[in-house]
Amino acid sequence: MRIFVLIVLGLSFISTAFAADKVVIAHRGASGYLPEHTIAAKAMAYAMGADYIEQDVVMTKDGRLVVLHDHLLDRVTDVQEKFPDRKREDGRYYVIDFTYAEIRTLNVSERYRIDENGEKVAVFPGRFPLNKSNFKVHTLEKEIELIQGLNKSTGGDVGIYPESKSPAFHLSEGKDLSRAILMTLKNYGYSDKSHKAYFQTFEAEELKRVYENLLPELNMNVRLVQLMGGEDIYADMITEEGIKALSGYADGIGPSIGMIVRNSSEKAALQITDLVAKAHKYGLEVHPYTFRAESFATPKYAESFDDLLDIFLNQVGVDGVFSDFPDLAVKFRDGS
Ligand code: G3P
Ligand code: CA
Repeated sequence: MRIFVLIVLGLSFISTAFAADKVVIAHRGASGYLPEHTIAAKAMAYAMGADYIEQDVVMTKDGRLVVLHDHLLDRVTDVQEKFPDRKREDGRYYVIDFTYAEIRTLNVSERYRIDENGEKVAVFPGRFPLNKSNFKVHTLEKEIELIQGLNKSTGGDVGIYPESKSPAFHLSEGKDLSRAILMTLKNYGYSDKSHKAYFQTFEAEELKRVYENLLPELNMNVRLVQLMGGEDIYADMITEEGIKALSGYADGIGPSIGMIVRNSSEKAALQITDLVAKAHKYGLEVHPYTFRAESFATPKYAESFDDLLDIFLNQVGVDGVFSDFPDLAVKFRDGS
C-alpha cells in the first residue's frame, strides 16, 4: 500500500513538474479582452500569469521600433481619418511611411476589417468594442520597461517574445529591423539563452542571418524560434533533414496549430502530424499558435477551448502555447 501511495505521489509530482514546464505566451497580450498590442493588453496579460508576453515589432520612418502586428496601420488605428493623403497606391497605410510622433497621434482600436459597404467591422465581434477608450501605439522599449517594471514590483519573472515582422520588406526599405530589435534586447539585458527572451520570425533566411551574422556581431546568444505558417510553404523545412538542419541554429519552432493537428481531424480520429516528434527528436521546443477561445475560432475536432488545450498540451505534448486568452491557458495548464 505504501509503495502504491509513493508511486501515485511520485507520478503526480512528475505530472505537475511536467505541466509547469509548459509555457503560456500571451499572444499580442491579453488580446481576447483588450485591443492587441496595447500597453493595457500587456499589463492584463502580466496580471493573468502569462510566462511570456509577445511583441510583434515593426519600424517607423524615423527608425523607432513599435509594437504592432504588421507593417500596416489601417486595421487597428484611425489612420485613414487622420492622414487620408498618406496611403500608398495599394490603398494601405505603411508604418514605415510615418514618424513615431505621427503614429502617436493615432487612436488604436480593436482589430477590424472593412466590409463591402466600406464600414469597419470587428474581426472578433465578442471582444472589446471598436473605437472605445484611449489606446496608443508604443515602442518596444516602453513595453520592455513595463514588463521589467512589473517583474520588479511584483517579484515576477515574465519573459519577452519579440517577433521581427517582415524583415525582408524592412531591408528593402533600407531598415535592418532584426538588428535593431536585437540591439534593444541587449540594451535591456537580454543577451543569452539564460535570459527569458525568444527572438522569432517567419522568414527562414532572416533567422539564419540572425544566427550567423547578427548574434556574433552583437556578441549575443539569445534563443531563436522559427515560425511556420503552413505545411506547403514550409514543406522543405519540416522534413527530417530540414528539422535537423534547423536544430543547428534554432531553439524552437512556432507552427500554426493546423501543422500539428490537421484541421480536417475528427474528435474520434485526430490526425496528428509527426512535426512535434521530429522537433523533439532534435531538441527543438514547440510553441504553436494561436489558441483562441471563441467557438468559431476553435477547430471542429475540439469540443471546447479546454479540450483544444488538452489535445495540444497533454496528448500531443507541445512545450507551450500562444494564446489570446492567457488566463484560460494558465488555468488549464495549472489545473486550477
Ligand atoms: O508569432 C506567433 C504568432 O503570433 C504568429 O502569428 O500573425 O499572430 O504574428 P501572428
Ligand atoms: Ca507574432
